[in-house]
Amino acid sequence: MSAPEIRFGLIGGGLMGKEFASACARWFHLAGDVPPVRLVAVCDHTPRNVDWFRRVPGVERFYGDYRALLADPSVDAAYVALPNLLHEEVCAAVLDAGKHLLGEKPFGIDLPANAGILAAARRNPGAFVRCSGEFPFYPGAQQLLRWHAEGRFGRILEARFAIRHSSDLDPAKPIGWKRQVRTNGAYGCMGDLGLHVQQVPFRLGFRPLSVAAVLSDVVRERPDGKGGTAACDTWDNATLLCRSRDAAGDEFPVTYEMKRMSPGAKNVVEYAVYGTEMAAVFSTDDPDAVRYTVGSGGEMDWARKVLGQRTAFPTITGPIFGFGFPDALLQMLASFACELRGQPVPFACATPEETRRSHLLMTAALRSEAEGRTVPVDGWDG
Ligand SMILES: NC(=O)c1ccc[n+]([C@@H]2O[C@H](COP(=O)([O-])OP(=O)(O)OC[C@H]3O[C@@H](n4cnc5c(N)ncnc54)[C@H](O)[C@@H]3O)[C@@H](O)[C@H]2O)c1
Repeated sequence: MSAPEIRFGLIGGGLMGKEFASACARWFHLAGDVPPVRLVAVCDHTPRNVDWFRRVPGVERFYGDYRALLADPSVDAAYVALPNLLHEEVCAAVLDAGKHLLGEKPFGIDLPANAGILAAARRNPGAFVRCSGEFPFYPGAQQLLRWHAEGRFGRILEARFAIRHSSDLDPAKPIGWKRQVRTNGAYGCMGDLGLHVQQVPFRLGFRPLSVAAVLSDVVRERPDGKGGTAACDTWDNATLLCRSRDAAGDEFPVTYEMKRMSPGAKNVVEYAVYGTEMAAVFSTDDPDAVRYTVGSGGEMDWARKVLGQRTAFPTITGPIFGFGFPDALLQMLASFACELRGQPVPFACATPEETRRSHLLMTAALRSEAEGRTVPVDGWDG
């Protein structure tokens, strides 16, 4: 017998809310034993944004206030895709309303807000809670994770995890909530992008012991969209160099790059792990493949392993066809649905504990930048 349907309510119908609706609407794309998911209700405080969702099959109820959506007994789970400022209030309300939660990074505007969401999760142990993060579901990223699980890398020498955008290079790009500390948080680009580069190393067991951060605030003001200008007071680029330790007890450098101003990069995510026996580099610029080299010195070749649609959760797509961002999102939601219903998953969405660790690292990075020195990343084990 198939698992019962998970009826989702969506709170925040912007960029990510629309992607989420699109993924739910093509659930039939998944070929395996994945619990059914349906988007039944949508909330956004802007009526125009709510109206957009009238085209999505299956959505029956439309709200302007998230409290009304949470009072709706037909909603089992909520996806919260709101500005960071609202994460704590709304995610905690979702959990206190007895719903399951898929939140968005950074899962709280700062460390205390993240602690507030985690406290709500502890108050409601029946609720299933995860945070969004789709990039680890790319086939090349999954292959890199499998190689690590098989112990193929040998002793880890170094690892690098990056996300790079370039649209902020345009000084005429209007300000939005993501470029202001009040709504986005003091982490700046790290809050917006951080978990995308942190989830995989954390899952690989690369624990940051200390961090030396270089944070750059390049653009100080932007058009406000009303003919004037507004202060753009968030960090644009962040590079974090961390002394890290893995489960084997080995220590090595891990670099985290989170950049909104990286010339030539649309939305590039890159995971690179270098070991004594193997090195592998995955980039969303080459989404169906992963590059690797094996051996220990001498003449070593870089090979490109082409995976096509070798996904964590099988789909109807032909195995030779390409993979992209909407596919990764669908894979991530399949993982959420399976885990919620107690089914085993090849890769789980980010846990509340992983978001807490993300906040610990980013909070330490802010201190490192402010004090101009390397600082310890404290509190890892709670
Ligand atoms: N997983 C990813 O790849 C990814 C990518 C981009 C953004 N995000 C995250 O998703 C979240 C949302 O980002 P976005 O890019 O979709 O933002 P967005 O600005 O496009 O959308 C936010 C939506 O929330 C609505 N909203 C604001 N306040 C509200 C309120 N009080 N009640 C109801 N609706 C309200 C806005 O009208 C807007 O439609 C953020 O946490 C961001 O960090 C994740």
